[in-house]
Amino acid sequence: MSQSTPDHIPVIAVDGPGGSGKGTITTRLAEHLGWHFLDSGALYRLTALAVMKHKVSLDDAAALGEIAANLDIHFETHDGTVKAVLEGVDVTPQLRLEKTGVVASRIAAIPAVRAALAERQRRFRQAPGLVADGRDMGTVIFPDAKLKIFLTASAQIRAERRYKQLKDKGESVNLTRLFKEIKARDLRDQSRNVAPLRPAEDAVIIDSTDLNIEEVFEKVLSLL
Ligand code: DC
Repeated sequence: MSQSTPDHIPVIAVDGPGGSGKGTITTRLAEHLGWHFLDSGALYRLTALAVMKHKVSLDDAAALGEIAANLDIHFETHDGTVKAVLEGVDVTPQLRLEKTGVVASRIAAIPAVRAALAERQRRFRQAPGLVADGRDMGTVIFPDAKLKIFLTASAQIRAERRYKQLKDKGESVNLTRLFKEIKARDLRDQSRNVAPLRPAEDAVIIDSTDLNIEEVFEKVLSLL
């Protein structure tokens, strides 16, 4: 496949912390527009699963970079649901576990990991357009995105939303612990040296603390 960026293809970049509603909004937006969808967090999570599978130390930056560079992954869509496949094995059930998110956040601070995943993410830019969900979509991966949105919400409400999501999936969770983990993850994502979580200068910031998904979606559509 060509490595050049087809920069005439429009991108909508939606960045923000976990639990801000990005996933729901971007999936709906991609469906609404009939555009491709990049869940960049899933790539970091798949890398985390590969790291755990191969028992690579989180302190071995070179080995982590190697894992990210040689990642054998793909996504399969069946009846509207997306399956994540790592080395031929369906790892969808492990993808959203809190543990996977924590390791993903740790390895996401390693420059070699980010560099290895950057090109893979840019390859999702295909006609007629791409909706990209992440932390650095508007700042690093697609700085020329047509529309950049930074979706955020208070840590408390994000913890409550995550709590409900995980509970609905049958995971046993503790709200106070979740709140602390979210704060710790925010801090790690915001304070890392490479591609820290922050709004692009030309991003529109939407605070979803007091908005429901419908209201956020309407707001996004009005920006298009
Ligand atoms: O959005 P998520 O919870 O699936 O992301 C998991 C972790 O991956 C998140 O804590 C930080 C990292 N990540 C990143 O550094 N850059 C991205 N574009 C997406 C995710």
